[in-house]
Amino acid sequence: MDMDRAIAERHSVRKYTSRRIEGDVLRDLGREIDRVNGESGLSVRLILDEPRAFGGFALKGVMGFENAVNYLAISGPESDHLELDAGYYGEHLVLFAQSIGLNTCWALMAKKGIASENLPDGHRMVISISVGYGANQGVPHKSKPIGQFADVEGAPEWFVDGVRCAMLAPTGVNRQGFRFERDGARVRLIGGSGTLGRIDTGIVKYHFEHGAGRENFTWMD
Ligand SMILES: Cc1cc2nc3c(=O)[nH]c(=O)nc-3n(C[C@H](O)[C@H](O)[C@H](O)COP(=O)(O)O)c2cc1C
Repeated sequence: MDMDRAIAERHSVRKYTSRRIEGDVLRDLGREIDRVNGESGLSVRLILDEPRAFGGFALKGVMGFENAVNYLAISGPESDHLELDAGYYGEHLVLFAQSIGLNTCWALMAKKGIASENLPDGHRMVISISVGYGANQGVPHKSKPIGQFADVEGAPEWFVDGVRCAMLAPTGVNRQGFRFERDGARVRLIGGSGTLGRIDTGIVKYHFEHGAGRENFTWMD
């Protein structure tokens, strides 16, 4: 999986063609979901040909979703890090999907009803991610300048690379409400609060780790 390319090319896509997810692509995505569930303890499911979650005026008329009939339903066991995990592992799956030719869009506003049925005991549905063959490839989001995210003056290259990679992360309503602090090789991520803020923090954490390289630093609480 070419992660750098997936990160550079991924943008939210809300309009999809009618091409179905099938064959090798379906098999590979299913395997990666199973692997992620095994590693994380989450219960991510791929829901296919189900138009209700992304139907209705808000999602279609206001946000512009079209033909969004497939999605990843991200749920997991209730805990104080469920939303962080949903963001972290969900973003891994978003980038995996991108690398096999699919497009995606995180959507907290998608209806959770159907995806909340038949969950394992104690699990909660957190968020949906539409997935499919885009009618377009989306557009790069506008970003705040790097200085808003961290003090990068004289910082080591790995840190700057991490921050730059985090700036490419999707965040709810593109609010980019995060900041990094560094003490030598220790890094603190200060993220937003609330459901959206905690999911964003998980997503941003995943991007920073990839950009900086896990071997170069440790996380501070
Ligand atoms: C946690 C989260 C929730 C989101 N919820 C919605 C949503 O309900 N509806 C929508 O149209 N976009 C939603 N988005 C997509 C963001 O608007 C989008 O990621 C952001 O504008 C940045 O654009 P990009 O993904 O193209 O980089 C969500 C994104 C995240 C990370």
